[in-house]
Amino acid sequence: METAESADRYLQELLLDPDPVMAAVLERSDAAHLPQIAVSPLQGAFLSILARSVKAGRILEIGALGGYSTVWLARALPENGVVVSLEIDPKAAQTVRANAAASGVADKVRVLEGPAAETLADMTERGEAPFDFVFIDADKTGYPAYLDFAVALARKGALIVADNVVRKGEIANSNSSDAMVVAVRTYLEKARAHPRLQTSVIQTVGVKGHDGFAISLVG
Ligand SMILES: C[S@@+](CC[C@H](N)C(=O)[O-])C[C@H]1O[C@@H](n2cnc3c(N)ncnc32)[C@H](O)[C@@H]1O
Repeated sequence: METAESADRYLQELLLDPDPVMAAVLERSDAAHLPQIAVSPLQGAFLSILARSVKAGRILEIGALGGYSTVWLARALPENGVVVSLEIDPKAAQTVRANAAASGVADKVRVLEGPAAETLADMTERGEAPFDFVFIDADKTGYPAYLDFAVALARKGALIVADNVVRKGEIANSNSSDAMVVAVRTYLEKARAHPRLQTSVIQTVGVKGHDGFAISLVG
């Protein structure tokens, strides 16, 4: 019987060109012993399409790991575009820089090392120029705070995308004691109540299991 995973593999082969550059990004992340929790190739392409659809020139990424999604997003940028990528783990941040350089997008990737909440507070205080696209993919318990920063740092018409918001369906469990589920539920409730946001969630299945992306349009 075909499965969500085999469908994912078929769709990847059908829709995406073989991509030795992105494969090498994953190899470098593996060599650095980073966990294999990057977005899938189809999800990377999905993020790229979303970023291009809002003509993103400035992208904020919260949670970079080895830079797989970072490189996908950097490739979606026009010349002079930038991805500002926040990462707490110095080894991961170093891998992002190496991957950006090896992928030919070093000039488009700025990695800011440290706890994202602190970096975002600094950026907000400094009056950072607005972002067109925000990808939230770091510690789930930080998501509610990241949403506030993302809205504050986004331009009107920007998209805010958050990964892993379905959590094998546990998101529907209002009694969950899992701190990540509770935090993601709070994120979605905040997004729903925010007067500037229109939000939906697309559940995802495939090589990354059952999860989902929240997508908010900033009005
Ligand atoms: C799921 S991985 C990111 C995957 C990456 N976006 C991709 O798809 O290629 C989550 C990353 O968030 C980072 N992270 C966790 N807590 C963080 C924090 N408080 N501030 C910044 N980064 C954090 C982790 O070190 C990890 O590299």
